[in-house]
Amino acid sequence: MVDLFEKLKMEAGPLAKYSHLPDDYFFFPKLEGEIGPHMIFNGKKVLNWSLNNYLGLANHPEVRKADADAAAEFGLGYPMGARMMSGNSKYHVQLEKELAAFVKKEDAMLLNFGYQGVISIIDAIVNRKDVIVYDAESHACIIDGVRLHMGKRFVYAHNDMDSLEKQLERATKLANETGGGILVITEGVFGMSGNMGDLKGVVELKKKYNFRLFVDDAHGFGTMGPTGAGVGEELGVQDQVDLYFSTFAKSMASIGAFVAGDKNILKFLRYTMRSQIYAKSLPMPLVIGGLKRLELLKKHPELRTNLKAIMKAIKSGLKERGFAINETQTPPTPVLFKGGVGEAANMAMDLRENYGIFCSVVIYPVVPKDVIMFRIIPTAAHTLEDVERTLNAFSALKSKLDSGFYRKEELVSVTKG
Ligand SMILES: Cc1ncc(COP(=O)(O)O)c(C=O)c1O
Repeated sequence: MVDLFEKLKMEAGPLAKYSHLPDDYFFFPKLEGEIGPHMIFNGKKVLNWSLNNYLGLANHPEVRKADADAAAEFGLGYPMGARMMSGNSKYHVQLEKELAAFVKKEDAMLLNFGYQGVISIIDAIVNRKDVIVYDAESHACIIDGVRLHMGKRFVYAHNDMDSLEKQLERATKLANETGGGILVITEGVFGMSGNMGDLKGVVELKKKYNFRLFVDDAHGFGTMGPTGAGVGEELGVQDQVDLYFSTFAKSMASIGAFVAGDKNILKFLRYTMRSQIYAKSLPMPLVIGGLKRLELLKKHPELRTNLKAIMKAIKSGLKERGFAINETQTPPTPVLFKGGVGEAANMAMDLRENYGIFCSVVIYPVVPKDVIMFRIIPTAAHTLEDVERTLNAFSALKSKLDSGFYRKEELVSVTKG
């Protein structure tokens, strides 16, 4: 037998082995000042590419006012219970109606957090007889939802429709034996790679196989589609997406989430989703602030146009300069380099300290051992000058990396500002 806490020290998870690095620098960094492309980090001004704020709504004056007014009127406490018991309000209902209409579904339901919402949706709609088929690069919340599933699950190779079809054949055979159904889960935009989920390909397979499709469109909502209603709209298959999900944590620059679909399924979810029935409902400022964000998202398509202009400038600039990027039409822009963790840390620090640019760096185990990934998140609030400055900085970093500069010194000694 072991002491439970002693065991945890030995098994602290893949990221814990980097926890000796300076606190608040690579992990848990503190960005200060007004939320936007230019903030303060470690006492210095930085150009920031790490905000989940695609449309730049986080600091929009109307948004700030709506949030503040709602907080002044209701505080953060109200409503004081689970939605089903004492946590409902006309604003919650209004936001659901508006979200449903926007994503062209009969009904929608607010969720307190995207992560637990996805887990709980999956948990609610399948039982041990059912089969889940899901994309291999699915977000952790989908994986955790699948882990709760008591029945069979099959994973298909990322966006690979042949692999999906093979798994659907297996799933169909099994479901015929158990008398269950099939749920396919994928994402609208994969947040790390920026790949768009091949929803057209998935929907095409509906002609041959009987399944329901659940799409997590966290990164597509507000950014993709002619009206911003997401990747289903972008690809013209929204009517074939049976359950559509998005968080408020990206384009909406807030907290909370929603799921939308046919009214009967939404009714079922309202009465069965454990994360909603047994948890307090969204506080008023998040709901009223959500209404304002949705209003602006609909009223100002130029925010999406600005985002696309920044996104295109950064992607084409990186490509012209010979960087390894994934050529996608979606905002997340990973830039890949070859190198180890030490080089990654030195590069990120050089970028922050000497070029004044803050950009999240992603290392093993999220990417393979010899890959360094800088993840640029363009927003509507960035400018073309920001893009140019960043391209120049990345070119300088690449030359230094190629010359072995970042291998010279073993990891970081960061002076706190
Ligand atoms: C694809 C995807 N799904 C779900 C979530 C979780 O949403 P939330 O932050 O609202 O918990 C995220 C991250 O925010 C995400 O990127």
